[in-house]
Amino acid sequence: GRNASLRAAVAPRIVPKAKSGSQISPQASYKVAVLGAAGGIGQPLGLLIKMSPLVSELRLYDIANVKGVAADLSHCNTPAQVLDFTGASELANCLKGVDVVVIPAGVPRKPGMTRDDLFNINAGIVKSLVEAVADNCPEAFIHIISNPVNSTVPIAAEVLKKKGVYNPKKLFGVTTLDVVRANTFVAQKKNLKLIDVDVPVVGGHAGITILPLLSKTRPSVTFTDEETEELTKRIQNAGTEVVEAKAGAGSATLSMAYAAARFVESSLRALAGDPDVYECTFIQSEITDLPFFASRVKLGKNGVESVISADIEGVTEYEAKALEALKAELKGSIEKGVAFANKQQ
Ligand code: NAD
Ligand code: LMR
Repeated sequence: GRNASLRAAVAPRIVPKAKSGSQISPQASYKVAVLGAAGGIGQPLGLLIKMSPLVSELRLYDIANVKGVAADLSHCNTPAQVLDFTGASELANCLKGVDVVVIPAGVPRKPGMTRDDLFNINAGIVKSLVEAVADNCPEAFIHIISNPVNSTVPIAAEVLKKKGVYNPKKLFGVTTLDVVRANTFVAQKKNLKLIDVDVPVVGGHAGITILPLLSKTRPSVTFTDEETEELTKRIQNAGTEVVEAKAGAGSATLSMAYAAARFVESSLRALAGDPDVYECTFIQSEITDLPFFASRVKLGKNGVESVISADIEGVTEYEAKALEALKAELKGSIEKGVAFANKQQ
């Protein structure tokens, strides 16, 4: 029917088609909230989510300008109903009953800044929004986009723990953009059909903590040492590439919205019972000695079903060294987030 044709038109462009003939219920319909919905990421992300046949309600929250964004999106003749919420007093109603909460609220980088330079402003924003999530929709999947992700996800975890509702299987740092970039750059470099390329990206989401495991690219590809070095650096530096090109007007918003929409769509497919959903994401994990680590996971109805530790086994010497080298920075960023969350109360 109508949903099936919409899905055929839209979904495959966002989420690569599953390999096996996986089935999800055609009746699947979920409520998704975007916090920071009037921003550079929030607006195109709202549009992409509005196009998903799996969404029955799209709840948009921002501290400013959200009414116009919602009015605009609500005219698209796709099934999702669009609701707008603004100001702290409306946040609880925005969150009650939602299945997935996406958080792109916060300030973006300008040239010359690191993601950690955003900590002072964004840490507090994420903390207060996640407190509201804990109070109103503790069972929801939580997707954290706000930077620095390496710290904001640990902050969210501490907030949820304090509220007694932390479920590590449902808290995700969104690192999909790193995979999207890696897939694009590798396909370009090696002249591969884009749709087929899948590069796992592990570690974290800043500088050298972003580690593409090029040796684990599917389909199997070989790279010279020079290609590995060049591609790894470009993937690690891709956010900065956009920040510099935008020259003060912000960071990646459109490619980020695309990546975040893919992660939302994957989460909804997992909730709907699709047995074949895999994404890279920054989560609490035991596959390294760090408490949080991005890696490929299998998503299911209850969130992370399993962590694919095999990706970080049998890596090349280059990757093994890079993995060791990123640990100190990632550990520091995690600890900074935990300390912030705990000093505040
Ligand atoms: P933006 O400034 O264009 O939009 C941010 C929005 O958040 C604004 O509309 C603002 O009003 C809103 N906001 C601020 N405080 C809020 C609060 N307390 N509650 C609700 N909304 C609030 O920025 P952007 O370009 O959309 O980027 C947002 C964040 O995403 C930045 O921190 C950026 O670094 C990060 N980002 C992450 C990735 C990633 O891969 N994870 C990629 C790109 C950007
Ligand atoms: C990105 O990777 O594009 C985002 O983290 C935004 C940034 O500051 O680079």
